[in-house]
Amino acid sequence: MKLFVNHFRTLEKKSLYVMYGLVNKAVEDLIRTKFSDAVWEKVKELACVDAEMFVSMNAYDDDITYRLVGAASQVLGISPEAVLIEFGKYWVNYTAKEGYGSLLEMGGNSLPEFLKNLNALHIRVGMTYNNLKPPSFNCEELDEETLIVKYFSHRKGLAPLVIGLLHGLGDKFGVEVDITQTHHQETDQYDEFRVKHYAKHTVN
Ligand code: HEM
Repeated sequence: MKLFVNHFRTLEKKSLYVMYGLVNKAVEDLIRTKFSDAVWEKVKELACVDAEMFVSMNAYDDDITYRLVGAASQVLGISPEAVLIEFGKYWVNYTAKEGYGSLLEMGGNSLPEFLKNLNALHIRVGMTYNNLKPPSFNCEELDEETLIVKYFSHRKGLAPLVIGLLHGLGDKFGVEVDITQTHHQETDQYDEFRVKHYAKHTVN
């Protein structure tokens, strides 16, 4: 566990980018909703973040987001990767409730269709968030149940976030997903996932 935390900590201060406040607000909302206001205050304190609140349209150093994830991992006693996975799962519903529901609906009616439209979705988001540095995705259908999803990012260490997001999207489309990471940014310049998706089993 300590190793994970240290690894993640080395990513702090290394990103040159800024992240829109919408992301930090979602981290806050996740922790306040799933845990408590007191836990959020502890996380903020440990992360040395003194902002009273985050503003969606304001840009914050990436470092702040990485510090919040690192601190949440310590306070909750789970790895930063596990925090990112939970955050990814939360993001789909969070953006829907923050006014992006119709944008999500326009993305498509199935997981493969949605993933193919994800770059276009972020381009649309970039029309309001002018300095957005979005990731890009490449999605290929191997067969009816299998997708190969490549994730290219300016940032480091966020593959677990994508794993959580894919689960969140699986829930949105009512399918089970089974994810195996097949390439890693550290060695291959990008992350790649083999995503099996199939209808949820129903009990009669
Ligand atoms: C309407 C819904 C969505 C909105 C409004 C949105 C918006 C954003 C914003 C504001 C950022 C921060 C980037 C920055 O400030 O430079 C971001 C990052 C990101 N988004 Fe989206 N997004 C949405 C849906 C999704 C979905 C469904 C995925 C699924 C894979 C996704 C994947 C990511 C990832 C992985 C990042 C991390 C940034 C990086 O890799 O550099 N987003 N998004």
